[in-house]
Amino acid sequence: MKILAIETSCDETSAAVVADGKEILSNIVASQVEFHKKYGGIVPEIASRRHVEVINPLIKQAMDEAKVRFSDLDAVAVTYGPGLVGALLVGICAAKAIAYAQDIPLVGVNHIEGHIYANFLKSKIPNFPFISLIVSGGHTMLVLVKDHCQYETLGRTRDDAAGEAFDKVARFLGMGFPGGPIIDQISKKGNPSAIEFPRAMMEEGYDFSFSGLKTAVINHVKKFGKENVEDIAASFQEAVVDVLVEKSIRAAKKKSVRTIALAGGVCANSALRNTLKEKAKKEGIEVSIPPTYLCTDNAAMIAAAGYRRLKLKETSDFNLTAVSILKL
Ligand code: KG4
Ligand code: ZN
Repeated sequence: MKILAIETSCDETSAAVVADGKEILSNIVASQVEFHKKYGGIVPEIASRRHVEVINPLIKQAMDEAKVRFSDLDAVAVTYGPGLVGALLVGICAAKAIAYAQDIPLVGVNHIEGHIYANFLKSKIPNFPFISLIVSGGHTMLVLVKDHCQYETLGRTRDDAAGEAFDKVARFLGMGFPGGPIIDQISKKGNPSAIEFPRAMMEEGYDFSFSGLKTAVINHVKKFGKENVEDIAASFQEAVVDVLVEKSIRAAKKKSVRTIALAGGVCANSALRNTLKEKAKKEGIEVSIPPTYLCTDNAAMIAAAGYRRLKLKETSDFNLTAVSILKL
């Protein structure tokens, strides 16, 4: 079964062709980050306009690289939320047009579910049930995945998402955008124990809060300056990672689950990967981490999730529309 998938929920335009929910025939990602950089964050109107400009050539590129024609496709999957409405609509319109013209099923996919399903594009897939820690620029969630497409949300962020905290702290430190990869790099030269930043809600439940940590970094810099920027970055990163790792492992133990699957852009973070692997190993818990190019926004993960929805005989009709706030 060949699925064309389209992802335009934020600042990446992506199209992919995936066979049987697993084999990536093509996965083209056009990042708009250069267009947003000077504003220090994503500007929704710029994002939608840029998606409009690149979507058609990008789909053509994905089809050409996969060596398939539209008539070879069995379905079209598209992200319909959560995300920026104007951005989502570009992908949805393109997906509807292709599904209508080819008379093939259209399947709307939840972006977060897509991130989780990046774990199913690896050679070694996680066994059910597993805990998924979804950490991206817009979301931070801890979810118990009971079976295909069956979720119990255990916790989420009460304010900033983990990636958002990285981006905001990097912006404050004058490091550029997006902040995650920059802080990750700079932290390698710093001492993560140099500054004792707060670990909010460490002992309480499975919710997260990162805005107090962001304020603590700002207050520290106001008081002591930012000469030791490597130490500040490393100590901030360590505080984020500590909370994410502690809660993920606690959730796995509490739910008697043997696997934690990471998802979302922040799981590219080297400290998060290493610390989680190390601590999970001590508890006899396996960690599943998609390759970096599948952690950040891409359409292959949307195809993988769409494939599962199709297997459950779930398709969308042509009333499918963008939903900015969408639960898992
Ligand atoms: O999943 P994603 O590509 O887009 C959303 O759905 O939000 O995640 C983007 C986020 C950004 O906040 C970026 O700073 C963060 O992922 N990120 C990282 C790293 N690479 C990307 N955060 C920490 N360390 C990284 N290496
Ligand atoms: Zn994402």
